[in-house]
Amino acid sequence: MTDKRFVVTPWEVAGAVDYDRLIREFGTQPISPELATRLEVLLGPASYLVRRKIFFSHRDLNLVLKDYDKGRGFFLYTGRGPSGPMHIGHIGQFYFTKLLQDEFKTNVYIQITDDEKFLEVKRNLAYMDTQHWADENILDIIATGFDPDRTFILQDTEFVGHAYPLILKIAKRINYNLTKAVFGFTGETNVGMIFYPSIQILPSLLEKRRCLIPSAIDQDPYWRIQRDIAEGLGYFKAAAVHSKFLPPLTGTQDKMSSSKPETAIYLNDDDKTVRTKINKHAFSGGQATVEEHRRLGGNPDLDVPFQWLYMFFEPDDSKLEKTREDYRSGRLLTGELKQILAEKVIGFLHEHRHRREAARAKVRQFKYDGILAQKMWKTDFEKL
Ligand code: TYM
Repeated sequence: MTDKRFVVTPWEVAGAVDYDRLIREFGTQPISPELATRLEVLLGPASYLVRRKIFFSHRDLNLVLKDYDKGRGFFLYTGRGPSGPMHIGHIGQFYFTKLLQDEFKTNVYIQITDDEKFLEVKRNLAYMDTQHWADENILDIIATGFDPDRTFILQDTEFVGHAYPLILKIAKRINYNLTKAVFGFTGETNVGMIFYPSIQILPSLLEKRRCLIPSAIDQDPYWRIQRDIAEGLGYFKAAAVHSKFLPPLTGTQDKMSSSKPETAIYLNDDDKTVRTKINKHAFSGGQATVEEHRRLGGNPDLDVPFQWLYMFFEPDDSKLEKTREDYRSGRLLTGELKQILAEKVIGFLHEHRHRREAARAKVRQFKYDGILAQKMWKTDFEKL
């Protein structure tokens, strides 16, 4: 039975997430065994993300691969709302997108929605906070290793002006009732937020090729609207590949929250903080005492350290299965499992931060002013 609190929107995830229900309600497709096999080959070392159904749903991914096979190509688009430091769940999306770029040698557009995060009333961020976090988050994104010649970072408050004609064309086709139905906007919602979907749709129309959007499934509502209007504007319907959410440290329900730092590990957490968060707050599927645990064993399905290994930190299937069995049988204790995760997370963060330092000198190279694309939109605009 579905959790009564269950809800997923781009701004909220509550309750135990029912992914099959999301596929039905959002009208997306599960990744079929045939598509999964093809993706596993393409993804090489990251194939576990598909095999383990971390990426579990899509729209038109088959058409994207067909375009690729036929030499028409496609482009990638993803993004980040700079509301604070990024956590492990966020950065996973960018590592995945970078792998797709490596494999398919595509352009990648990365939208930094400083406007969205300023407008979101619940967050109460000052404008300058959004600028600070945009700068910080961009370093993390560059650190994932995107190709500077094919990657374009669009920070909305800098970029959107250049794209205004195209944004207008998008906005004119979206009515209030649709955004209300899709996003649950109410009379209290500020008009900036009501307009904002036009801006998040924009990068999917940056090239006259199919656009593939990797993200967690919370962002899909935008693509539903995009797919209603794109062809009428002379562009392709967006394709998407959706992941599950990395669960919060504190349990398998809801999502990691910036207002509750114990629920997440941030990319700027130091070693001590990582150890403390995992030891103190990570929800355990183990038994109350060592004796009971040895006798009865733990439950890896409820255990967040195990889930984090499964979803991100242990790509090796045989090592993962051994950990699962050892935990289930009681051979592996909760403290030991937490220790395995903590070492993996710390190792990952060290490497990431090393690359992040090197990213400081590269920011300008990645920022996109859209002048070239603007020429294309202007010509298009004249036709309408
Ligand atoms: P934001 O900053 O909320 O999230 C950034 C990316 O991280 C994904 N995500 C997660 N993935 C795994 N586990 C989690 N717990 C988790 N929480 C969030 C999000 O799905 C997203 O992919 N409005 C967007 C910014 C944006 C965007 C886009 C994102 C603009 N255009 C295109 C994806 C694709 C936002 O605020 O994302």
